[in-house]
Amino acid sequence: MPTSPQVLVVGSIMQDMTFACADFPQGGQTVIARLAVGQGGKGSNQAIACGRAGVRTMFVGAMGRGAYAGEVAAFYRREKIGCRLALKTDRPTGTAVILLNGEGQNMIVIEPGANARLAPGDVPRALLTGAKVVVTQLESNLSTTAHTLRLAHRAGVTTVLNPAPMRHDFNPRLLRHVDILIPNEGEFIALVRKLPEIHRRNFDERALHAMPREALHALCRLFKVPTLIVTMGSRGCFISEKARHMFIPAHRGLKVVDTTGAGDAFCGGFAAGLVRYKGRIAEAARHGTAVAALSITKPGAAFAMPTRKELKRFLRKTATSQFRGKGDQVC
Ligand code: RIB
Repeated sequence: MPTSPQVLVVGSIMQDMTFACADFPQGGQTVIARLAVGQGGKGSNQAIACGRAGVRTMFVGAMGRGAYAGEVAAFYRREKIGCRLALKTDRPTGTAVILLNGEGQNMIVIEPGANARLAPGDVPRALLTGAKVVVTQLESNLSTTAHTLRLAHRAGVTTVLNPAPMRHDFNPRLLRHVDILIPNEGEFIALVRKLPEIHRRNFDERALHAMPREALHALCRLFKVPTLIVTMGSRGCFISEKARHMFIPAHRGLKVVDTTGAGDAFCGGFAAGLVRYKGRIAEAARHGTAVAALSITKPGAAFAMPTRKELKRFLRKTATSQFRGKGDQVC
């Protein structure tokens, strides 16, 4: 009988077509780029980040027809990360077209393909209830996301939702089953605008950045999710828990090659940190911050996730600064 995973990631897997160009094109403009094909999808990226960090992880997702499914399964076997891929032969595998500019910033368009067909029945109940942490996103089938969160939450498993990409059909009622919500700034703004009782239709990035931390914490509390972490790219992340809030700064001075999947690296690294640090949120977030920092120093999404060895070396090097929480601001 195989041992059950500590972290189960249920979600999307894509084939990434990354077009690297000096500048993003303007509407109506054509630019010349270099094309690289890689492995992506927010769910799979998160599972790989978590598994490579040394925590027993399993990914559950859906793929379409073609030889790519075999390649992916072989990659997971090599990495010694568990994976269960439901084959949806009437759909192509999900595809992401990624534009990457000279500063390593990206723009992404996806065609979910088989991800949209991931069904509740594809996610074994025993895996959901046997894990310590279950992580999911909004890039595959929303009913399956809801089913995953509901079942895991009822079983007392820690549930993590990365609400990415934010969708117009996302129902905030789903948050009832979420222990830890990890949006990026854009997703957080969309969530704030979605909650009818908040009346903040004009809430935008400027308003978010201008907000005193205490007010941001109060806003986060309105979601009634025990822990809300807003990732803010190169700034760091804001953590709002019932009794406290804090800000963890990002690592500085790294050479940015490709930011694709940095949010996934944070979520995967955070989930691994939750297991490693026995549920301690701040430690887990610092772990996620380190995984995300290393991920942007390499090209690609899944392939850029740091290995255990790279992570250990980085954590040792930074042990006296950010990782020990020197730059944290706790309130
Ligand atoms: O978060 C980055 C990922 O988003 C890419 O790998 C792409 O596949 C899209 O899902």
